[in-house]
Amino acid sequence: MSTDKNEVFNDRFLKACRRERTDCTPIWFMRQAGRYQPEYRRLREKYSLMDLATNPELCAEVTLLPVRQLGVDAAILFSDIMLPLGPMGVRFQIQEGVGPVIDRPLRDLKAIERLRPLVPQEDLPFVLEAICILRKELSVPLIGFAGAPFTLASYLIEGGPSRTFHRTKALMFSRPDVWRALLEKLVEAVAAFLQAQVRAGAQALQIFDSWVGCLSPRDYEQFVLPFMQKLFSQLKGLDVPLIHFGVGTGHLLKLMKRAGGDVIGLDWRVPLGGAWAELGFDVAVQGNLDPAALLGPWDLVEQGASEILRQAGGRPGHIFNLGHGVLPDTSPDRLKRLVDFVHEITRGA
Ligand code: CP3
Repeated sequence: MSTDKNEVFNDRFLKACRRERTDCTPIWFMRQAGRYQPEYRRLREKYSLMDLATNPELCAEVTLLPVRQLGVDAAILFSDIMLPLGPMGVRFQIQEGVGPVIDRPLRDLKAIERLRPLVPQEDLPFVLEAICILRKELSVPLIGFAGAPFTLASYLIEGGPSRTFHRTKALMFSRPDVWRALLEKLVEAVAAFLQAQVRAGAQALQIFDSWVGCLSPRDYEQFVLPFMQKLFSQLKGLDVPLIHFGVGTGHLLKLMKRAGGDVIGLDWRVPLGGAWAELGFDVAVQGNLDPAALLGPWDLVEQGASEILRQAGGRPGHIFNLGHGVLPDTSPDRLKRLVDFVHEITRGA
């Protein structure tokens, strides 16, 4: 496949992040590189997820796959939120169908004090190199990303995926001093990593607080908001759009906006129109088709997408996406058709 570097740079995603008018609504997908692609599955027969994420050439190749196949308006660096935890001294595996599993979960102050500060240029040079390669190849903006401190802390404390996050909450409630020590370390590491990604060439950043929706607004305000405000304050000077995303966070949206971000990512549980009105139109929104909708008949995909676009009302500052990542059973053709549909129906609207 030929590179697309000679094409005119497509900046409609960046414009929409800044709430500027665009020729049509930009669209990209969380997990747009992944198991739903036969090419990705073939690479995974030879390489582990970590092999792909830590080899600059392979990382760039995987990142480019969906950009070329689907015609999306942004690329997202192929990596995982767990990546920066390795050099901080955390041993983990990413188990297929499960997610990250930590060898020795962190449960006390001693373990947290042992976490090393992250030095991205030394610890994760391959990520920065992949970004450099990608910037030469891409004619759409490149999104860098990191996990938010709460979501990373939840993996570190639970030791793996959780439905209830009881251990995380127990530590947060009973040892606020230990919680603070952990979140402060994570804020520093995540800020350093994101700053390094922008210096290497990332043109936007998404912060995934995937699991923070398990908290009440009151607990978010007390135990997460101050750390997120600190994180966002360290990213402000970078002059790239910041996307702030969580799953099941309909009840936290206003607090997430207070925490920071130029774009708030919405999952499929909230009607986009109401959520945007509640947030205020001084912030952009991203979302929010149910990823499972793509497993049903095309008519329903079209209806769902049309309804989201109707609710966005042609207002500048909407980036179309799914409400969470692409599911492994999704047909690549379906995704391509959705990209074309969103572009066509909003063109000149
Ligand atoms: O295309 C992209 O979106 C970029 C790649 C990306 C991956 N992980 C690759 C990956 C991104 C942005 C992530 C972020 C990530 N990782 C999050 C935040 C986003 C979200 O989904 O809420 C979280 C919570 C993780 C942790 C993690 N890693 C999980 C829950 C899983 C799924 C486990 C499974 O097998 O279902 C992973 C593995 C993972 N990371 C895959 C991919 C493409 C699965 C495919 C594989 O194992 O090769």
